[in-house]
Amino acid sequence: MARVYVKNDDKWIEVDDGAKLDILDGQCSVLFACKDGVCGSCLVTVLEGAENLEPPTDVEKTTLESLGAEPNQRLLCQVVIKGGEIKVEQ
Ligand code: FES
Repeated sequence: MARVYVKNDDKWIEVDDGAKLDILDGQCSVLFACKDGVCGSCLVTVLEGAENLEPPTDVEKTTLESLGAEPNQRLLCQVVIKGGEIKVEQ
């Protein structure tokens, strides 16, 4: 079991190891739209636990670059958590 802390909501959400975090749509205040890694709506800053995430796909990388995202920012709809805990903020 892995856990995601969403700072905006001051809330921990439990997910399965290996889960793709588009499943958090509706469970937190992060804004999801396309869920395909292209619109940038779900851009979050990873505050802790980045080492617990799979690296971004080419699609996510392209969108992050076009958004001018910081290295610690990810598209939550594309993030896969390996396990453990992460903390994010939107
Ligand atoms: S919801 Fe569009 S990029 Fe994540």
